Amino acid sequence: MISKPKKAVFLDRDGTIIEDRGFLKSPSDVVFFPETLEALKILRKEGFLLFIVTNQAGVARKIITEDDMEAVNRHILGELSANGIKIEEVFCCPHDDSDNCECRKPSPFFLKKAADKHRLDLKKSYMVGDHPSDVGAGLNCGAKGIYILTGHGIKHRSEAEKMGALILPDILAAAEWMKICAEIEKIHRDGGLPEKIEKAARAIKGGGTVLMPTETVYGLGADATNPEAVEKIFRIKRRPANDPLIVHVSDMKMLEGIVERIPEKAMLLAERFWPGPLTLVLRKKPIVPDIVTAGLPTVAVRMPMHPIAGELIKKSNCPISAPSANLFSCLSPTRYSDVAGEILQRCDMALSGGDCLRGIESTIVSFSDEEQPALLRAGSLAVEKIESLIGPLARRHSSSGSSEAPGLQRKHYSPRTPLFLIKNPSEVPADKRAKSALICFSEDDLGQVEGFAETRILFGDCEFRSAASSLFSTLSELDRLGLDGIYAVPAEERGLGIAINDRLRRAAAK
Ligand code: TXA
Ligand code: MG
Repeated sequence: MISKPKKAVFLDRDGTIIEDRGFLKSPSDVVFFPETLEALKILRKEGFLLFIVTNQAGVARKIITEDDMEAVNRHILGELSANGIKIEEVFCCPHDDSDNCECRKPSPFFLKKAADKHRLDLKKSYMVGDHPSDVGAGLNCGAKGIYILTGHGIKHRSEAEKMGALILPDILAAAEWMKICAEIEKIHRDGGLPEKIEKAARAIKGGGTVLMPTETVYGLGADATNPEAVEKIFRIKRRPANDPLIVHVSDMKMLEGIVERIPEKAMLLAERFWPGPLTLVLRKKPIVPDIVTAGLPTVAVRMPMHPIAGELIKKSNCPISAPSANLFSCLSPTRYSDVAGEILQRCDMALSGGDCLRGIESTIVSFSDEEQPALLRAGSLAVEKIESLIGPLARRHSSSGSSEAPGLQRKHYSPRTPLFLIKNPSEVPADKRAKSALICFSEDDLGQVEGFAETRILFGDCEFRSAASSLFSTLSELDRLGLDGIYAVPAEERGLGIAINDRLRRAAAK
């Protein structure tokens, strides 16, 4: 039997999977990005064959030798293989531009060679890199190109934009994009998705509401410039009017249409982390109605990374305000099946887009004081990443009614089953365990979990990414069991652990 052609991801090396530190001479120069392992694991799990395709002009220029290059590659393959990640082949072009070789990217030479040898379907394959020539190599052989913003990414961004390239923050976002696209294809097998998005865009333009997937949580969207449409969101969600909404844009031009100015540090963040789970609070233009911002002079804006959300905003040709698609103070839905029936019935159209990979809402940074940006809500983008780019953020206390952080109620995201935070599972008496569930985030707690009706241990990677992605869906699953209580041992306060603990504290608040 002839097997189906396989799909592949061609990875640029420097600036894409490892830091770009000039021409690398020795294995000790190799520094993996913190996202690389997770990203490549996702891709292997999705059934992609992985290849590395790298231009190493340092060889032609006699800065490094071919042996140096190979030693570095062997080290990279060794590290990946030690983590269970198989790379089929590494292709290196040792030439310089002036050599006029046939293999230097943007030539698709190596991609085509791999396709012949490994029977690849290039149309279903991707090339990912931090240079326009990477995207070019993909496009030049009918594969898809993804441009990422690590390495030289920021520097050449405008060239990539001119090529019409898909631009994403990093290798992990690229892997998530490919995973979401594969899932969307399965869900919308009939190929009817483009028409559904067209129809949803018409609903938005006509002043209706649409349930849309984002990479964080499902949102309930409406035209952000139409106060009557926005009012419907508040009614459907039973959300108090003093809780402002996040406005979603699909490009920087749309952002400029709704905010007065973009402070330098805000621009740095937008350039590096959009599209993605980061919301910026900026001075609004009058076109944004008061109902969106609860009367504040600022508006919260983000550019979502989910392909369906992005496409819907583009097709609607207007910014879309969308809170999480839960009834007020309930758990945010991260799966289509967790969206409340009441919301599905009352919105004008619902788009399914699979599970939300990030699973926790966006991180909110306020520039209402342009000199001192402040963290308003921990979320799916780790605070450490933001601070490493623009310096320390002020922390605002999220007391309800504060004009600085409106809508950040102490109690929020709650399951109906009472939730209790504990330091250690051993605190829960044996007689309570039989009717309770336990959630924890560390292998260290494993020894103490006997006797609970249900136990969920959410860990996987050191930054708690996978734990974050399944937090709300786990809570809503446990909530359906009708238990007496859910006990949670908080995660370590770092990476996404900070956002996880914030949600747990609010879910536990009385
Ligand atoms: O990931 C997300 O951010 C999701 C998806 C759908 O994009 N959206 C979301 O929206 O979490 P929501 O409504 O659940 O949270 C909006 C919060 C408000 O409660 C408030 O805390 C903050 O954003 N916010 C909105 N506008 C603000 C403003 N002008 N100033 C300060 N905070 C604001
Ligand atoms: Mg590169």
